[in-house]
Amino acid sequence: MTENNIDGQINNLRVPDHIAIIMDGNGRWAKRSGQPRIAGHKEGMNNVKRIATTASHLGVKVLSLYAFSTENWKRPSTEVSFLMKLPVDFFGVFMPDLIKENIKVVITGFKDDLPAKTQNVVNKAMEDTKDNTGMVLNFAFNYGGRAEIINATKILAEKAVAGEIKPQDIDEKAFSDELFTSVLGKYADPDLLIRTSGEERISNFLLWQMAYTEMVFDDAYWPDFTSDNLINDIRTFNDRDRRFGTV
Ligand code: FPP
Repeated sequence: MTENNIDGQINNLRVPDHIAIIMDGNGRWAKRSGQPRIAGHKEGMNNVKRIATTASHLGVKVLSLYAFSTENWKRPSTEVSFLMKLPVDFFGVFMPDLIKENIKVVITGFKDDLPAKTQNVVNKAMEDTKDNTGMVLNFAFNYGGRAEIINATKILAEKAVAGEIKPQDIDEKAFSDELFTSVLGKYADPDLLIRTSGEERISNFLLWQMAYTEMVFDDAYWPDFTSDNLINDIRTFNDRDRRFGTV
């Protein structure tokens, strides 16, 4: 936890180290103003920059954003294509700001199954920011919690068959080490999950990692979610009593 004070406005805010966000409501945001769904995703992308900047200023260590799930492939192909192009636009426009903010970009998910162009830009974004020492901006892209768990299980099973590990050596640490989030080190598990748009579900996000995560459901659609929303949700988190199974 970091005590922080942004521009003298935020007193006594205890900022969680790892915040994860399910950025929901882009489609409804667009529909509300008679626009196509992709207009909501575009505005959602712009909001990523605003909220990432605020989170970085607050002292968040890791901001994980659920940008594309393994289930999102079932959406209409025009929408899928648009979502696959978003990283191209995002990093094309915002990379100088990310560098200025000392933000390190990480992509978690089944990256190898992404279209080549998307893979190239996300790999380049990671490469360009790999030496940055500030907040880690983790995009869960082509990510699914169950698939991640199965993937880790396969890796461990293969290691056992190859004689590299013994089944009895498999513990929580060994398992966590095979998850995509192992790159986040000691911050792999979110302290706070925020889901926007009023929906109250996890939707296959960070299933293993959220064992003890506090959840806050915010009514704002993602494109309308502001820094004030973020700070209010952190205040809600601050009022919670995290016991991790103890009394
Ligand atoms: C869920 O809203 C949102 C998504 C599936 C996409 C989220 C992606 C972004 C906000 C942009 C990500 C930016 C980068 C750089 C990758 P929904 O479409 O399910 O909304 P609805 O429930 O109102 O229909």
